[in-house]
This record gives sequence, structure tokens and C-alpha cells, in this order.
Amino acid sequence: MTKYISIQEAMDKGKGKVSVRGWIHRERGSNKLKFITLRDSSNVIQCVFERVEFEKRWEEIDHLQVETSIMIQGEIKEDKRAPTGYEIHVDDFEVVGKSENYPIGKDLSVEFLADNRHLWLRSRKMIAILKIRSTVFAAIDEYFKGEGFYEYHSPIFQSVQCEGGSTLFQVPYFGKKGVFLGQTWQLYAEPAIFALEKIYTISPSFRAEKSKTSRHLTEYWHAEMEIAWADFDEIIDYGERLIKHVVKKVLEKHKEDLEILGRDIEKLKPSIKKPFVRMTYTEALKILEKKCDMKVKWGKDLRTIEEEKLTLLYDVPIIVTHYPKKVKAFYMTEDPENPDVVQGADFLAPEGYGEIVGGSHREHDLEKIKKRLIDDGEDPAEYEFYLDTRRYGSVPHGGFGMGVERLIAWICKLDTIKDAIPFPRTMERYKP
Ligand code: 4AD
Ligand code: MG
Repeated sequence: MTKYISIQEAMDKGKGKVSVRGWIHRERGSNKLKFITLRDSSNVIQCVFERVEFEKRWEEIDHLQVETSIMIQGEIKEDKRAPTGYEIHVDDFEVVGKSENYPIGKDLSVEFLADNRHLWLRSRKMIAILKIRSTVFAAIDEYFKGEGFYEYHSPIFQSVQCEGGSTLFQVPYFGKKGVFLGQTWQLYAEPAIFALEKIYTISPSFRAEKSKTSRHLTEYWHAEMEIAWADFDEIIDYGERLIKHVVKKVLEKHKEDLEILGRDIEKLKPSIKKPFVRMTYTEALKILEKKCDMKVKWGKDLRTIEEEKLTLLYDVPIIVTHYPKKVKAFYMTEDPENPDVVQGADFLAPEGYGEIVGGSHREHDLEKIKKRLIDDGEDPAEYEFYLDTRRYGSVPHGGFGMGVERLIAWICKLDTIKDAIPFPRTMERYKP
């Protein structure tokens, strides 16, 4: 039986007979020669067929089209002119699955590619992103496990909101109302710190975002942590170390993939080496006014454009803390020195990417939480299970959530978050 190796393994071997299999990425030919670029998950390689050796099968070879799956035996050798520096001289081949008139050719408009997302996944760009995505997920796991966190899971069907009612997806549930897709694991994670103390998850989150921006999905993957006995600074420190770890892993493993994406990796290095910039919301407003000529009224949330301008001033993420209480969620701890602001933080990624992490210390005062729920138009009775966390042995605690696609979009310098996930879901698109 023939032993097939990956294209990368064949190139590492560098000479002699090899058997490889994959899909035809490109093809061109003349009367005498046919060149194909063969692609598998590991790389691409140029393969050449000579007519003199295949006179009887030339018709078949001449008609080989893009995305045909094929198995090839041949002789590999270095060839400086070939796209990846090697070429296989084909001795024998077998077509496995025909492909005729592959739809993705010249029309690369955004809409067309979105309609054909199931095929566009095979593009070199998407392959590079999907590989990096896989490493990002693994690195998040590795980081938290290494810090002694337990993996823990909240339900996706939830009966309460956490991040504002306006972005809740209500789902029909056996004729009952008041069931929503989770926006975050948080309210079901806090009860578990009394059992496990340090927990994390990577799970889908859902937001009915009506905004058509380059950074909002309706379904995204959310890496979240919650920790008992921690103060605000410790929580932020975990976030900074997590991001450093993930970026480092991607740089170690994906130089070539980042190159395919045209990513300047020098721009990522400071985030591994240097401490992140930390500033309060109030300081951020001063900097925006002084350096960006943007005046934001104290008490207003930072908009995308302001976040963007702020991040362009630094080469590492910025951690903005102590936002006004009224722009942040009901569960954030009031600052002991100034009850108008909360111990909440947003991490803003460089190069204009903006918020990738949101986190906070959690308010422990039962009455304050109830009051803020009421101020938000919520019925505290629905939150009884959550309020019990403050009734029975409450401890200082907190956590954060990181939008995994937001992180990937920044690491890969993507134009839109939609390319950070295989099948993006937005207000306008839920197909294919
Ligand atoms: O800032 P958010 O809303 O915070 C929470 O959900 C907290 N409960 C997390 C926690 O403390 N456990 O969301 C956290 C992160 C944001 O910083 C952003 O990166 C991402 O989730 N995010 C989105 N990503 C893609 N599309 C959307 N529509 C997103 N909304 C939030
Ligand atoms: Mg947020």
C-alpha cells in the first residue's frame, strides 16, 4: 500500500520519491506540460506532468480543474522558481473526486464569498486563519489549566440577562417565555466559585447586535474566567498574562501563516515583551482631548471611534479602568474611593481594534445589586439564585470575558471579525 505523506513532510524530505494527496489549487498548461499547484492542509507545492510520459492520459490531465482531489506519486526536488521552492515531477496519479467549474474564481466580492463560505474555507487566507484560531483556543486552555483553573460550563439556555436586555435573543421554550441564549456565562459561573474557586470556559455567547460593524457578531466564542478571593488588580493581571501567552504561542507556531495574511509580526512583539498600558477612564478622556483633539463628556461611554484613536497612540493593549457606574453593568463593584466609578476594565487592542476583554470585580453588597437591577428595569425576583451568592459566604471575587474572534482579528490584522470564524453570524447573515 502506498504511504502518503503531507506536502510539508515531502518538502522537508526534499528529494526522492514521494506520494502526496490533496486538491488542485491552481492549474496552467501548454501542449507539452501541465503545472498544478497541489494543496493540502500543510502547504502547497507545484507538480508538473510531462506529455511525453502520459501520452495516453493527456486528455484527462489537460482537463484537470481547480479543486479536483487527486493522489500523486512522483519525484520531488528543489526548484527555486516554484512558489514554495520545491517541485514534484509526476510519475503517476489518480483523480479521486472531480471538480468542474469551481464557482470561486475571479468574482471575489464580499457578498459572493459570504454566499460561498463553505467553499471559501479552502482559500489559503482562511486556512491560515483557521490554523491560528485552533492555536488560540489551545493556548487559552493551556494558560488557564497552567494557572490551576478548572474548566466549568454554564448553560446556554438562560433565564436572566447580564449585559443588557437589548441584545438578548429570546428563544421559544415549550410555550414558555423568558428563556434566552446566554450573553455570557457569568451569572451561572459566580455560583461555582464557591465550589471550585478558579474557573474558566470557552463557549459560544449570543448577542442580538443590530449594529453592522467590523467587530460585532451575533454568535461569538467567549473565553471567560471567574476567581474567588481576588482583588481588581489581580483579575486584570490574569487578563494581561493570558493575552501575552496567546500571542506568544501564535508567533511561535504561525510565522508562515501570518506571512500569508500579510501580517507584520513586529507589530505584535511589543505586546509580549512590554507591560500593557493602564489608565483610568478619566485619564483616557484627558488623553483623548490633549492628543486626539476629541472631547468626550465625563459619564459617556467611549465610542468605537474614540477607542480606535486611543489605541493608535500605543503599541500594546490599553487597559482602561474605573468607568462611570452608569455606563457599566449592574454587577461591578463601586470604587471604595469614588462611588461614581466602578472597578471594571476594558482591554483595548492596538492598531484600532478596540475592546477585546471586559471584566470587573463583582459587587458584594446585596442591596446595591438589587437597586441597580431595578434601575436597569429588571425584576430582582428573577435573580434570586444569583443573589444567593451574596447571602451565603460571599467572598471578594471577579472575572473577565474575552471575545476570541476579536483577539484573532487583531492578531491576524483582519479587516473584519467575520473572517475570524468559519461561518459568521450577523444581523444580516445566518446562511449557509
Ligand atoms: O464586555 P462584555 O459584554 O462582558 C461580559 O460579557 C462579562 N460578563 C464578561 C465577564 O466578566 N465574564 O463582553 C466581553 C467580551 C468583549 O470585550 C468583546 O471582546 C466580546 O466579549 N464581545 C463580542 N465579540 C464579538 N461580537 C460581539 N457582538 C461581542 N460582544 C462582546
Ligand atoms: Mg464590554
